[in-house]
Amino acid sequence: MNWWTNLKGKVALNEPLKKHTTFKIGGKAKFFVEPEDAADLKILLRTATQHRIPLYVIGMGSNVLAPDNGIDGVVLRLSAPYFKNILFKNNHIQMGSGVLLSEAVLRVRDHGLSGIEFLTGIPGTVGGALAMNAGTSDKSIGDLVQDVTVMDYRGGIKRLDKRNIDFGYRKSSLAKYIILSARIKLAKKNKSQINEKIKNYISYRKLTQDSSRPSAGCIFKNPKGASAGRLIDICGLKGKRIGGACVSLKHANFILNTGKAKARDILRLVKFIKRRVKDKFNIVLEPEIKIWR
Ligand code: EPU
Repeated sequence: MNWWTNLKGKVALNEPLKKHTTFKIGGKAKFFVEPEDAADLKILLRTATQHRIPLYVIGMGSNVLAPDNGIDGVVLRLSAPYFKNILFKNNHIQMGSGVLLSEAVLRVRDHGLSGIEFLTGIPGTVGGALAMNAGTSDKSIGDLVQDVTVMDYRGGIKRLDKRNIDFGYRKSSLAKYIILSARIKLAKKNKSQINEKIKNYISYRKLTQDSSRPSAGCIFKNPKGASAGRLIDICGLKGKRIGGACVSLKHANFILNTGKAKARDILRLVKFIKRRVKDKFNIVLEPEIKIWR
């Protein structure tokens, strides 16, 4: 009997990861698993540990560079309805980690609540956003979190209060768990004001960011007190191309897949940019994307 036959959720074998990353890059995952609920997830985690199968978590795949030769392990996605639950109570929203940020923003607005408009246009899930403390230059999701329910790799579930979670710039201490759900504090607001904010975020993104080709959004974190996009721009690297990977002409911190880019093209371009920025500014850029190996 195969180890995955005990699972109730979906298990795909040799699943192309390019279908699941916004970069549209990546070889095959040996196992692509979508557990049905928390009990199923627990079985998966225990089995993977027992069989020493490496495990990678994916949300919307918007911040991941998957290797060309694929993943010899499990890629886990919490996309079953169980992980997409949304509940409102008083001025709080409780959301499953598989909820898309775009949906969360609209559901919150429809309840006449405000606070997460800044997540507009970020292609991701609640779980992914919490793991990397997603946000804009002035606000991150961690600022609003009340508590987060997680599962550890042995299958134990616990609720972590915000005081016990470290949120940093594009990182959080939650990354060592599987995030199940989060409770976020919101404030009552007039719907038209909320809509206005959402519209502004959409137009700023349209104006500044490049959605003409597949990408993973910003490639590098902003160094302290500086903008990675501006530094790369000053180095004259807009339009720089290696293989199928190209620095966006619109926003220099975006690398585009012009059609047939491989992960190795992206990595070579990342290395090239890092070297140029280091030479010119003596600043070492750090990737924001997760580079799977
Ligand atoms: N800039 C340039 N040239 C460029 C790009 C930007 O000079 O090619 C300048 C801009 O004119 C601006 C400054 O750099 O003065 C900052 O640019 P921007 O406002 O576009 O913001 P960012 O710091 O590049 C951050 C997040 C984005 C998020 C926006 C929204 C990081 C690394 N990036 O971008 O997040 O959408 O703020 O405000 O924190 C992502 O995480 O994938 C992402 C795209």
